[in-house]
Amino acid sequence: MSEIPWRIAIERALTIHRGAPPSRWLQLATVTSDGWPSVRTVVFRGFLGAGPVLRFTSDLRSAKVGQIAENARAEACWMFAETREQFRLAGHLRVIGPDETDSQWLAERADVWTALPPATRISLLWPEPGVPRADLHRFRVGTPDPRDPPPSFALLLLEPERVDHLDLRSDPHSRTQYQRLGTEEPIEWASLAVNP
Ligand SMILES: Cc1cc2nc3c(=O)[nH]c(=O)nc-3n(C[C@H](O)[C@H](O)[C@H](O)COP(=O)(O)O)c2cc1C
Repeated sequence: MSEIPWRIAIERALTIHRGAPPSRWLQLATVTSDGWPSVRTVVFRGFLGAGPVLRFTSDLRSAKVGQIAENARAEACWMFAETREQFRLAGHLRVIGPDETDSQWLAERADVWTALPPATRISLLWPEPGVPRADLHRFRVGTPDPRDPPPSFALLLLEPERVDHLDLRSDPHSRTQYQRLGTEEPIEWASLAVNP
């Protein structure tokens, strides 16, 4: 059980939305090399352990991975429809690909790969994303080994430093900003109620 206050709020929202898969979709923004924001939908793949880090997956060949290599700053925006809550999580992204040297991270990447739905695993064998459409036959790929991630598979880790939680259920609305204090474990979070 985590003691991070904003994570507890997210987990509460996830519990309320447990029958609704879109509640696990959020928008993840990165920055391009020429300073443009670049945002896309990704699936939340759970927290790393009991800490603040969020897990996502990506094709290593996709544009976001190149952007992260140049600038790891990112912000996720997560909206929960039933509870009318919004969480904005700003921090740094880390990409764990096949060239990762830390065996623990490689094991984490393999675990997330194994837990993916089969259709998502297959999509990682498709032709390179974002380039002109390939012939249909190149999308007829085999079934990847659930225990062995392909070279195209990347685990993305978002380590938030600031979290902004807006809750529209109350009148007036409530909004709380959290700020990470330092990097030493256990990480402390300052919280400040602000006007919505
Ligand atoms: C519902 C939904 C879920 C998605 N989940 C992911 C995901 O978990 N990871 C991912 O890389 N792309 C996901 N995508 C595709 C991205 O939104 C995006 O099109 C793709 O990652 C390429 O983005 P990029 O070129 O900015 O890297 C999802 C799209 C939708 C509509």
